[in-house]
Amino acid sequence: MSELTHEVTTGASWSDLDRLNASFYSRFPYPWRPMSLRRVLDPEFEARFLAQALGRWGQLAVPAGGRIWVAGCGTNQAVITALRFPAADVLGTDLSEPSLDLARNSAGQVGATNLTLRRETIEESRDRDAFDHVICTGVVGHVTEPEVALRRLGEALRPTGVIELMVYNAHQRVGLVAFQDALRLLHAGDRDDFDGQLAVGRGLLANPELKPLLVELGLPLSGVPAEALADAVIQPIERGYTMGQLAEMAGRCGLRVAAPCLNQFDQPNQRHDWNMRFVDPEVQCRYDALPDLTRWEITNLLRRETSPKLWVYLVREDSPLPLKPERQLTEEFLAATEVERGQARTRLYMRSGASEYRAHPDEVPHPRAHPDPGCQRIVDAVAGPGRARLADAVAGERQGAGPADLNLVRLYLTTPLYPYLLVR
Ligand SMILES: C[S@@+](CC[C@H](N)C(=O)[O-])C[C@H]1O[C@@H](n2cnc3c(N)ncnc32)[C@H](O)[C@@H]1O
Repeated sequence: MSELTHEVTTGASWSDLDRLNASFYSRFPYPWRPMSLRRVLDPEFEARFLAQALGRWGQLAVPAGGRIWVAGCGTNQAVITALRFPAADVLGTDLSEPSLDLARNSAGQVGATNLTLRRETIEESRDRDAFDHVICTGVVGHVTEPEVALRRLGEALRPTGVIELMVYNAHQRVGLVAFQDALRLLHAGDRDDFDGQLAVGRGLLANPELKPLLVELGLPLSGVPAEALADAVIQPIERGYTMGQLAEMAGRCGLRVAAPCLNQFDQPNQRHDWNMRFVDPEVQCRYDALPDLTRWEITNLLRRETSPKLWVYLVREDSPLPLKPERQLTEEFLAATEVERGQARTRLYMRSGASEYRAHPDEVPHPRAHPDPGCQRIVDAVAGPGRARLADAVAGERQGAGPADLNLVRLYLTTPLYPYLLVR
């Protein structure tokens, strides 16, 4: 396993937009440092739950010594990934040197030695068939040619690998993109005059009728920190997608949307469900008969800004592993006879104010009790002394549940965001 290293490229092949992005994310590195970081001490824990999200029961999505690429890693994501997958070699790349510096400092403080950081655009990457897992969230919509970047991610993936990708959901960004355009027209100055743009943005948001945008963005109504406001309203470029557009772009890059990826940003309002329930049984019947991706496209079109984020797992079109539809995943989950509680030992590193991360003296079990008491009862029933059958425990909690509700139970118990049950 490599020591934490830092590599730099010359940036000779960068586009004007790459340079603008580099100066934007150097002025406003994203995101700000979290108050705590978690090291998972069980090396297989995360790799097993990642495999389960695609129905690869009992397998590891990232084997010991496997490789992970965090593309456009910003300030934290590569460090977080190195701590989540301690048996893997993690590469973090970004075009912002200050972001990489912050990542390097945090990695040093928490002793994440399985991490290499490299200043490089995604488009410059020459890795082929190299990674078991690629993580790229909130980046592809900002680059010069999103499709070129996505193709690079796919080429870098091993045939059995999994990409975790988040692109902006176009329906959720309509108001924001319009605001960004208006701000640019009003500012009418140099594109890299970020402080000038930010001042115009703050001025605009003093208008009461524009304040709902802050609420939409989850920002406070006054005193918004410069980094948070800049990330939202003065992005050099931002493109959004529908589920259909994302799937088409993935197809052109030799990739397929395999499954939605449950993410922490949809967690507060429990917006994880890509399946809809209809009053009219005829409509429900038509909808249920469709392939997963078509259903998710319809959900995205009908729910628009209230659909989940466009956060998905992608696999290679030529992957030798089967791509299992949701219905099959749920059937296999319910038929499982070997089930154990997901429980990892973890160590927390905490900071206060501008201080360095310090290790908490005690190990902390992960995860804590399930936020849904019904799901917790299922865990206790199947992993407790009574060893109930999973199908019976689920039926006891969710009487008369249809396929979509049962699928949701699977997602709430067996995926990386809800790592409660390991299934074989
Ligand atoms: C919104 S931030 C997301 C950071 C990180 N992925 C996360 O979710 O925390 C976008 C990041 O992409 C980086 N970036 C933009 N264009 C890039 C490119 N062409 N290649 C690599 N990184 C890029 C920026 O420097 C910035 O750190």
